Amino acid sequence: PPAATRVSIIGTGYLGATHAVCMSELGFSVVGVDIDPGKVANLAAGRVPFFEPGLEELLRKNLDTGRLTFTTSFTDAAAADVHFLCVGTPQRPDSPAADLSHLVSAVDRLLAAGPKPGSLLVGKSTVPAGTAAALARRLATEAPLVGLAWNPEFLREGFAVEDTMRPDRLVLGLQADDGGRAEGMLRAIYASAIEAGTPLVLTDFATAELVKVAANAFLATKISFINAMAEICEATGGDVKTLAAALAHDARIGGRFLGAGVGFGGGCLPKDIRAFQARAAELGAGYAVGFLAEVDAINLRRRTRMAELTTELLGGSVAGRRVAVLGAAFKPNSDDIRDSPALDVANLLHRAGAVVTVTDPAAVPNARQRHPELSYADNAVQAATDADIVLHLTEWSDFREIDPVALASYVRTPTVIDGRNALDVARWRAAGWSYYALGRPRV
Ligand code: UDX
Repeated sequence: PPAATRVSIIGTGYLGATHAVCMSELGFSVVGVDIDPGKVANLAAGRVPFFEPGLEELLRKNLDTGRLTFTTSFTDAAAADVHFLCVGTPQRPDSPAADLSHLVSAVDRLLAAGPKPGSLLVGKSTVPAGTAAALARRLATEAPLVGLAWNPEFLREGFAVEDTMRPDRLVLGLQADDGGRAEGMLRAIYASAIEAGTPLVLTDFATAELVKVAANAFLATKISFINAMAEICEATGGDVKTLAAALAHDARIGGRFLGAGVGFGGGCLPKDIRAFQARAAELGAGYAVGFLAEVDAINLRRRTRMAELTTELLGGSVAGRRVAVLGAAFKPNSDDIRDSPALDVANLLHRAGAVVTVTDPAAVPNARQRHPELSYADNAVQAATDADIVLHLTEWSDFREIDPVALASYVRTPTVIDGRNALDVARWRAAGWSYYALGRPRV
């Protein structure tokens, strides 16, 4: 029975907290370990310290079974049969490369606590290619009876539980010389997903590490491609939304991640394409992913373009003008503001002298902490009261459901820029709004 298999989750941030809850839901006995006592206390008390639909209910349910615990003690984690490494690998403050210090210190602590002989360490964090091989060399000298596998995580914020329980694929990077032990243990861990038909990719460490960064690089490229087409549409008077819809009819292209607008943000895509370039350069293959610099540049240009269009529509200067910003999270159904295009645009305008008021259904507390210089409102009406212009920058359904007739009565001037191409143009125009969007013709 799975409860006999003990699982530790090292690092209880977004990925780790979700993985811990889901592993426990599958019936395993799970301990989540983190050096941050605040995170541990929250999770142990049944509170998810970030916004993720459905996760808190599942956390509470599993805490009640007694199968799921959280601790700051690596000694408690050392008794597990399988350790999932789920720590963050953010961008370094001083370079585009990934910061692996959390990963290294997590392994230091686990090894110091004495993991069980025969246990398996499974890397889930997004890492530069070569990290797993280096870790394998370290284990070979310091803990030769502990196995290693690399099993990248592809979960999307907002769909974390669903993506963990039923991923698009399971990628297992394995060592050729362990007699199939790691594969056997991971097949047992993921038995329910495998039985449900989840495709399984068995490969080496380097390929497993690369699948993750390649997937994110491809998604980023797809978004920047359509945003580049938006720039061309702006130059020609074309309509990028119609263009994207027409492209999507070609099944080889497909319509997902072809949404033009202020571009991608978040804790993954931007840092992953930068770390990928840095790692490729270290390997002497920087030329192969040179195009990712352009993908990044196109993406960042959408933010300045948004600020420029705002300035233009306000007559050449935003100084002293009131700007309502709908959205602070980097995407809807999340309170994550890491590298958020919405807040970046808000800040550009604030620095140019605008009076910016931001609203978001979930991300205002995080935004307020990080950007105390901006003003915040509880809802769209409050944010838009007396506004000279309204910017729609994160496509929450709350914003799509705004009644433009009602909102028009609060603003000073009914001008909206739809930075996500998600509002119902006809409805907003019928309500008297001047509607503008990135990559679409003006009327
Ligand atoms: C991403 C990957 O999708 C996921 O597989 C990986 O594990 C982590 O990184 P996430 O960062 O949660 O997940 O967000 P995602 O849904 O991929 O969106 C990324 C960004 O792209 C958001 O800012 C979103 O607004 C933007 N985006 C997405 C677009 O601008 N246009 C689109 O068409 C789609």
